[in-house]
Amino acid sequence: MRELHRLRDGARVVVRHIRPSDAAQLVDGFRRLSPESRRLRFLGGRVRLTPELAEYLTNVDQLDHVALVATTEDDRGLGVARFIRDRVDRTVAEAAITVAEGEQGRGVGTVLLLAMRRAARERGVRTLRGEILWENTAMRRLLARARARVRSSDGRLSFEVDV
Ligand SMILES: CC(C)(COP(=O)(O)OP(=O)(O)OC[C@H]1O[C@@H](n2cnc3c(N)ncnc32)[C@H](O)[C@@H]1OP(=O)(O)O)[C@@H](O)C(=O)NCCC(=O)NCCS
Repeated sequence: MRELHRLRDGARVVVRHIRPSDAAQLVDGFRRLSPESRRLRFLGGRVRLTPELAEYLTNVDQLDHVALVATTEDDRGLGVARFIRDRVDRTVAEAAITVAEGEQGRGVGTVLLLAMRRAARERGVRTLRGEILWENTAMRRLLARARARVRSSDGRLSFEVDV
């Protein structure tokens, strides 16, 4: 899979399946994420991206665990979107998006959500769901445009997007 998109500022973005050779870039991108981006992505929990975890996150079957990356045309990573299908209800999957520090707010997240919804639809997933922190304005706007259902509790929002 390889899709070409254009951002609002005219920049070209490639969306493709993640591959094992992306592990080093993933670790590097994670290292560069600001404390605030990490907090928003992992809901305040501490996460260490070990080489083992990077291997797990880049060696995916693209069926039950789907991960797409957005890159520049010369393959510099800009963001990752991922969903993992529920083991029991295979029409539902847990989804998340991370855009690299310094690349947020350019439309990369919008492109990744679009591509992720399409990938989900193609695999028979009907609902993407997840949790975000209430103050995650960028994600809330993305979700609003995708007409997500959101429910709030304890400073968090659970979302469900029909694909
Ligand atoms: C949330 C995230 C994935 C969104 O991706 P992005 O590329 O920054 O988002 P986009 O540029 O496509 O913008 C999406 C919307 O959010 C708005 N937005 C972007 N950054 C914003 C910010 N810092 N504050 C307020 N709104 C913002 C955009 O204007 C756009 O809304 P609009 O279409 O109504 O104008 C990205 O910011 C990110 O990785 N954040 C840290 C990790 C995280 O929170 N992940 C989500 C957990 S699942």
